[in-house]
Amino acid sequence: MNDTTAPSTPQRLLIAIDGPAGAGKSTVARSVAERLGIPYLDTGAMYRCAGLMAQEAGLVPPLDEADGERLAELLRQADLRFETTAAGLRVSIDGRDVTAAIRTPEAGEMASAVSALSAVRRALVPLQRTMAEASGGVAEGRDIGSVVFPDADLKVFLTAHPQERARRRLGDLRARGIDATLDEVRRAQQERDLRDTSRRDSPLIVARGAIVIDSTHMTQEEVVQRILDELASRIPGVLDSIGGDAVKSRNYGRLAHDKGAASGEEEF
Ligand code: DC
Repeated sequence: MNDTTAPSTPQRLLIAIDGPAGAGKSTVARSVAERLGIPYLDTGAMYRCAGLMAQEAGLVPPLDEADGERLAELLRQADLRFETTAAGLRVSIDGRDVTAAIRTPEAGEMASAVSALSAVRRALVPLQRTMAEASGGVAEGRDIGSVVFPDADLKVFLTAHPQERARRRLGDLRARGIDATLDEVRRAQQERDLRDTSRRDSPLIVARGAIVIDSTHMTQEEVVQRILDELASRIPGVLDSIGGDAVKSRNYGRLAHDKGAASGEEEF
């Protein structure tokens, strides 16, 4: 049989980027995807949609697995769409634009709460796999290298000092007109880190074989370059042969669910 771990043709290049909130994953993942001309998959946006749907369904934390089953069913029926536009990722649920609604601090809290529910993960992980199956992509989240795509061509664990992460996050929030203090952001971040790293199902960990990049003293461009260099050293010629700008506007829409899940590895 052929080597199933390395169908790393340019058409199906898979890069997994995991790390805690505020490490700069989204900007870096988007930029790497654009440079490689492959799709960008923001799995956090999916959990944020799930959080918003939970809120709208009147679910209030602490949530239990019965809430999770109910939410998973709603997710299976929903039409979730993620489109890369010039203005960034556009997210909709059943045709309703929720791009801004899923980015509030409250939506982030709710996303973290629902992401601990196994039924919700069982509904979303297959969707993530199906989305990247056809054309590959740069996927970012918490369990991409450990659970969703353990055979990715490159696995990155992107982190930064908590103080720096909080500072960046505050900058993001203020840029979107949301007021907060550094202290509030740091406290919320600490709680979210704890929840994301200590949950039973698919906690945030450094996946086996992942390279760890600490971006505390790096610019975004330096991080992107480091990832591209690492990729080029693993797959010689990869940077010359991929789609580039020609396919950068490829979108992910809603696709069918399939089956399967794996488990995480090393401790974070
Ligand atoms: O990356 P983000 O802040 O948009 O993610 C929101 C929440 O979703 C985060 O607190 C943890 C959860 N999440 C997850 O459990 N697994 C992923 N692959 C991505 C996000």
